[in-house]
Parts: sequence; structure tokens; C-alpha cells
Amino acid sequence: MIQTITSALGEPIFHLTAGDASYVISIFHGFPLHLYAGPAISDDDVDYLLVRVGHDSVVPRPAHTPEGWFSCDIAPFEYPAYGSGDFRPSAVMVKAKTLDQTNPTGGAPTTAVMYESHEILAGKPVLDPCPAVHASDDECDTLILHCTDPATALKYDLYYTVLRDCPALCRRTVIKNTSDTEPATLLRAYSASLDFTTIDPQAELVHLWGTWGRERHMERTPLLHGSMSVNSRRGASGHYHNPFAALVTSETTEEYGMAIGMSLIYSGNFDITADVDAFGLTRFMAGISPDGFEWHLAPGAQFVTPEAVIVISGEGLGKMSRVYHKLYRRNLCRGEWADKERPILVNNWEATYFNFDDEKLVAIAEDAAKCGIEMLVMDDGWFGIRNDDKSSLGDWFVNEDKIRCGLGKLVEKVNALGLKFGIWFEPEMISPVSKLYEAHPEWALQTGGRPMSISRSQYVLDMTREDVRDYLFDTISGVLSSANIEYVKWDFNRNLTEAGSALLPAERGGEIFHRYVLGLYDLLERLTSAFPHILLEGCSSGGGRFDPAMLYYSPQFWTSDDTDAMERLDIQLGTSFVYPASSMSCHVSASPNHQTGRVTSFTTRGNVAMAGAFGYELDLTKLSDEEKDLIRKQTADYHRYYNIINRGDLYRLILPTDSYNGKTGKCASWMYVSEDRSEALFTFVVIRTSVHPVYFVKLRGLDPNAVYVDQTTGREYHGDTLMNAGMNLTKNYRDGDSVVIHLIKK
Ligand code: GLA
Repeated sequence: MIQTITSALGEPIFHLTAGDASYVISIFHGFPLHLYAGPAISDDDVDYLLVRVGHDSVVPRPAHTPEGWFSCDIAPFEYPAYGSGDFRPSAVMVKAKTLDQTNPTGGAPTTAVMYESHEILAGKPVLDPCPAVHASDDECDTLILHCTDPATALKYDLYYTVLRDCPALCRRTVIKNTSDTEPATLLRAYSASLDFTTIDPQAELVHLWGTWGRERHMERTPLLHGSMSVNSRRGASGHYHNPFAALVTSETTEEYGMAIGMSLIYSGNFDITADVDAFGLTRFMAGISPDGFEWHLAPGAQFVTPEAVIVISGEGLGKMSRVYHKLYRRNLCRGEWADKERPILVNNWEATYFNFDDEKLVAIAEDAAKCGIEMLVMDDGWFGIRNDDKSSLGDWFVNEDKIRCGLGKLVEKVNALGLKFGIWFEPEMISPVSKLYEAHPEWALQTGGRPMSISRSQYVLDMTREDVRDYLFDTISGVLSSANIEYVKWDFNRNLTEAGSALLPAERGGEIFHRYVLGLYDLLERLTSAFPHILLEGCSSGGGRFDPAMLYYSPQFWTSDDTDAMERLDIQLGTSFVYPASSMSCHVSASPNHQTGRVTSFTTRGNVAMAGAFGYELDLTKLSDEEKDLIRKQTADYHRYYNIINRGDLYRLILPTDSYNGKTGKCASWMYVSEDRSEALFTFVVIRTSVHPVYFVKLRGLDPNAVYVDQTTGREYHGDTLMNAGMNLTKNYRDGDSVVIHLIKK
């Protein structure tokens, strides 16, 4: 719902209601100001929240505002512009010739964003070219603030879409150059910015950091005066930071207190900054990283920023995550597989690496069929002459020395066993040792004359080029049409360096990173439209591009190349801050684990992998009968629990990082509750035990008055007992032991 009232100055105040949250914007002397974001409030005229302090000599006043207290340097802007007295980080900076042609300073990056008019619409307009949340006219409303820079021909449309039944708000900005003759240059164009007047001065930032094999570990840190930024300059959202952060107060917990999440639907260079000024005002902004970014806006052209999704929770980080899960599962993922039960797969990567042939794959599929596994995925190494990672990327032709019976026949054999068939591609890459590179060395990203950095023996294709995308579409389509292929794993195993394109004119050199991402989205859109029945799984050396934009095309993503169950606890629980269980691909792999050497029981490996899109990544032909029996149990459990885990509500009970207190060992625990609260699935894992450990875990999200029956023991508990007194799990555990309890309402 969007309500408009008129302020004492005769300017509009907009009160946006998203589920149980409010977001208030006021126009003040033409400036769009941010007044409030938080749990729902009843008043609209809250401009008393503006901070009225300042000293003229250090905080300049815009000439058209009355003398007194107003200053751009402390005003809470909705879309802060560079250069007129707001000295904090700006959301927008544009070089444009001023309309006053006699003014010799036209072209300085001073920018202004001043309200002109607004529109309120039911629904959410589609704004190409970036992926965005989709919602029907019954699900949301949109406010568009039409703004202008009075000195130039630049117009700024600020889009706010509020969801009606959940506290989420989607923001984008459209920047238009309305000049008929003069180009402009964007130097900064963020998606969203909020200036908090009311957040606890001791605000803290929650974000997800990592590296290869160790993605999305949650970190929480107090903000200090100055800026803190999580970002990527790698050409991909990356392993190191995720395009997500949340502002919380020092008191916020999983279940209590304020949490404002900021998630950017984007797969390229990004920046999320939290900046605290001398008055304790916190600016929180997200968008394309300004590093190396410069966008040439031709006369008449417009630029649409990626979308930022802000979730407002007054009930802690747990609720914030649950809102993201539902929204992203229902309103971001698309297509046939968005919310459909995913097949249990076995992937041959950790089973064979590059050393396989058709017979080996069929042998794995035969065992898989006997254990309840539903799909075989043929990973890297089936094409060109690829027997290691040193060649053939780009040569998407079946290697018939390995797949001797041919791809069509192999797929038929696997299908005859009752399994689907999936295949691996790394479309955006080119090996210097490849037929493609021999034919088209100019298709690799490069900046003339500079040596090209090599990474995993490969270069990156220039995805800004249409001919490159056409080649990829044609060759990949050829493979996909040649056999009954029902799944694709889309990998991306290095980041961008020397990012230049022979086809971009010099004034567009600063556009390459964004254009690369747009090229990727274009190819993904073409392929997913041409093969809508295919389940696409994203991958980037594990989870190096696990971001909301990729989920728009591929509803599941390989969470990490680290398949060690203990390591996966941090990775998966960190990922769960934003991303739903159905999006996290999680496999049971061999023990000792290939990445860490750790030995973990088959049961615990299954219990941990059950928290996502479930599968196996080991050589089934080498397993004992006892292990195969366990697979039969796990595959049956996966179907039994699918609805609770993937469509239910997640409660993080103990994070591995919180748990070690010197007495009770180190553990992790979480639970899912079905939407109607009739069933719950509780998991507890001991990472490192100690002598006589004591473990009580309080459950959450149950119906307090209902009686739940433990499906293993038959013991009955009231929901309120489990939530207030908790489960007593005290026992002598070994490292890596785990407990799963399935509760059903009586
Ligand atoms: C990446 C992926 C792995 C596997 C290999 C194949 O590392 O993350 O799962 O597909 O590539 O080369």
C-alpha cells in the first residue's frame, strides 16, 4: 500500500507499507528524503525525525532552503547525489554539460536529484535488462519518483515496489539523458541508498565473506565512524563477498530486534557500503561498483540499474532470512523448476574427475538406480580433448574417445535405467589450447598489447560480443538437442582480468564489466527460453557466483567445492541468511573428504546435505552394501522431508560460530517448520565434542498449544515445552555425530 499526504511545506510525504513494515519518504524543498524504514508505524507526518543540527561553516546549506538547520551533509537522502554539500559517499555522480551553454564549468560531475512529480501503480513494471523480482498486480504496488537535475538534461526515476504481504521493497533507478545533442557520463549509479536517522548508533553490519571452498561465512561487526564496504571487482559477484549485507542493532538476535537486509540482484562488480557520519547517521547503499565503471549515456539513452531488495524485519535476522527465502523462491526463481521438487542426482566429478568413459558412467548409473537416485550428471571432461583442466574450453563437441557409444546412446542407456541425464558446461571460457582459440583469439577478453593473465589455464570469452554469444547458443543448443538432456550445470571458473573488447569504442571502455554481465544474462535468457524443461544449476568454482541474479535463471547453485560436512555447516548456514534451501545444492561425498581429509559418518554427511537440493558426488560402485542401504534410506527421507525443508520456515538455532563456550563443545543446529506448523524437522550436529558435554536446544516456530510426536521414539511434547524448556540432547557424542528429529502434530 502506498499513501500520500501533504507536508506543512505543501510537498508530498509517501508512506509505503510492505507487509508489517513501513518506509517513509518525504519531499523537502525538492529533495527526496528518507524518513523511516522499520516495523510498521501509524503516523505519516514524521518529518520531525529530520536531524536538525549543523554548523554553516562545515555543513553547507543549499541556497534555495531557508536559513537555519538544513544541510545536505546531514540530510537523509533517498538517492544522494555528488557535489553539492553532501560529503558522504554518493549514490549517483554524472558528468553532463549544463543546459546553460555559456557556463564553462558544464561537465563537472556535480549532480542533483530533485523531485518533479510521481506515479503510483498497481504491480511492478518490467525494466530490462537486468533480472528482477517478478510480482503480479495483486501482489505489489510501485511508486515512481520522477526527479530531475535542473542544471542538466538528466532525469532520474526512482522506482520503489512494495510487496503487499511481506516486508520487502525493491528499488531501481532509471537514469535518462533527455538531451538531443549532448552525451553524459555516469560515474556512479547505485541501485538504492537509505540514510537512517533512527537506527541504534551502535549499528552492526552482518555480511557473508569467504573464498574458494569456504564461501559465505557469516560475520557480524560493529560499524565505526567512516565507511565499511563489501564488494567485488572480479567481474563476478565472487567468493569473497556476497552481494548482501544487513544492518542490525547491537541487540538484534536471530529472533529479536531490527534487521534491514540489502540484497543486490546482480552477478558482477558490486559495492554495498555502510557509512556512519559524525552525527551517528548511517548511510546504507548498494549498487554496481564504481571502480572502473564509466557509462557513456548517448543523447536520448537511458541506464537502468540492477535491482536491490530491502527486507525490513523487526523480529531479528531469522525473520529477515525467511522473508528472503519465500520471496526469492516464489518471486525471483522462474520457470518449470522454480518450486518443483528437484531430482536427487549423482555427479561424477569427485567420483572420477577427468578419468571416465561411457562404461564407467553407466556403472555409476546402475548403482544409482538401485538406491533411489534419479539423475546422473556428467561433469567436466566429456568434450574436445579435455583430460585435464588445460584444454578444450570452447570446443563443445563430444569426445568420442571417451564417450565411445556417443552421447545419444549414453543418455538412452541412463534413461533406460530410470534416471534422467545432466551435463556440465563452462560456456564463458576459452582455453588457449582449443580449436576455438585457434580460430578466434580475438574472442577472449584482452586489452591490446598487455599480456593476458591466465587462471586455471583459461581465458574469459568476451560476452559483450553478439558473435560470441551466437556461437555459444548454437553449439550448446546443438548438444542439448542431440539427446534427452534434462539438466545443465553452468560453471564459471575464473574471474575477469585485462577486461577489454575489440568491439567497444574507446569512450565505452568503462562499460565492459557491466556489459559482460548483460551479455551473460542475454545468453542465459536465450537458452532458458529455448530449453524451458531443463533444470539449470549455476556453479562458479563452487559458490563463486551464488547471487540472486543467477537464481533468476538457475533455481539451484552449487554451494561450494568443499563438500566436507563439517565445513558445509558454516557455508550452508551462512548461505541461508539470504538464499532458500531449494537454491543450495548439497551433496554427500566420500570420506575421508577430498578437500579436508576429514572422516565423517555416512549418516551425518546425509543429514547435512539434506539441507538443500540433495545429491551424491562419489563413486557409488566403490560403496559397501551397508552404505548403499543408507543411501536408500536417505533418498526416501529426502522425498519425505522435501516439503518441510524446501517450502517450510527455517530457524537457525545454533550457529557453529556462536556455539563454542569452552564447556559444551562446538555444534550447530537448525530446524524447518512446515508452513501450516503441522510438521518440523530438527537437526543437531556435534562438530567437536568435549568431556561430559551438556546440550539443551530450544526449538522455535512450533504451535505452542499443539502436541508434537517424535517420529523415532513416539514421545509426545507440547510445542511450548519444546520452545521454552527445549530438547535435552545431553549424551556422549563423538565428533561429527548428528541427531535428526521429525516431529508431527498429533
Ligand atoms: C569447478 C566446479 C566443480 C567441477 C569442476 C570441473 O571447480 O565447482 O564442481 O565441476 O569445476 O572442472
